[in-house]
Amino acid sequence: MKILETADAMRAWSGERQCAGKTIGLAPTMGALHEGHASLMRAASAGNDVAVASIFVNPAQFAPHEDFSKYPRTFDADVAMCADCGIQAVYAPSNDKIYPAGYATYVNVEGVSEGLCGESRPVFFRGVATVVTKLFNVVRPHRAYFGQKDAQQCAVIRRMTRDLEFGIEIVVMPTVREPDGLAMSSRNRYLNAEERERALCLSRSLFEADRVMQAGERNARYIVDAVRRGMADVRIGYVELADAETMQPVETIEKPVVLAVAAFVGETRLIDNITFEVPQKCC
Ligand code: PAJ
Repeated sequence: MKILETADAMRAWSGERQCAGKTIGLAPTMGALHEGHASLMRAASAGNDVAVASIFVNPAQFAPHEDFSKYPRTFDADVAMCADCGIQAVYAPSNDKIYPAGYATYVNVEGVSEGLCGESRPVFFRGVATVVTKLFNVVRPHRAYFGQKDAQQCAVIRRMTRDLEFGIEIVVMPTVREPDGLAMSSRNRYLNAEERERALCLSRSLFEADRVMQAGERNARYIVDAVRRGMADVRIGYVELADAETMQPVETIEKPVVLAVAAFVGETRLIDNITFEVPQKCC
């Protein structure tokens, strides 16, 4: 497995494979890898001739008061996990290679970036869209793999890929959870034992809401209120039922929706979501 630190080296590596007619899968990450990331890397490896993972903690998607400097960095363990998952090249550029002095170009995806996480983290999706654009341009994958865990991020990347005509297939993989339901996240390692226990109310409330929706409830206000009650022990950022494609809030479930939550457990901000689609009536 190769570790490539510059865009030129990465582009040359990809270029050789492209010329040989090989398909390339990309799993973009910020490192501190866990089984959620592993599922993307395995899918990239299984679905393509060669697979690339990127590891880059992207400063452009953190606000000044957020956890950029303390974000977990576990490079050696990450590289071992990449190799285990069938990755052939890790692209791990430094900050000054991605954002050299004078850097001035950003990608802004309107509409779908607003609301939910975009509301409390106004620079977040601009940072994500910008760095993913740069990764797409350098790696030039056929397919790129993202996790449903970050549902709004997936919607932003899909919109951007369509709008900017990247010609890359976006593959969204299901959320990988701990055995007790907590969605895996690099930020889970910030939680102490008491917070880890309290954090379970996010997935529990979402699973309960899923049962209610499966049973036929279609009223967003009712579902959101029930989830809010289930999350009384944490500081809620948002609970919202949104159209899965546009991320705009809905009042009644008609099309595929995402029920998304964000909450602070102690100092740690966690997000989770489930998707729901009205079952087709059969004749
Ligand atoms: P990061 O948080 O490292 O996540 C990298 C990818 O792993 C994302 O697509 C995310 O949705 C996916 N992922 C995280 N936890 C998961 C889980 N429990 N189950 C399934 N997939 C999971 O998301 C980012 O990095 C960055 O914003 C990035 C896209 C790399 C741009 O900087």
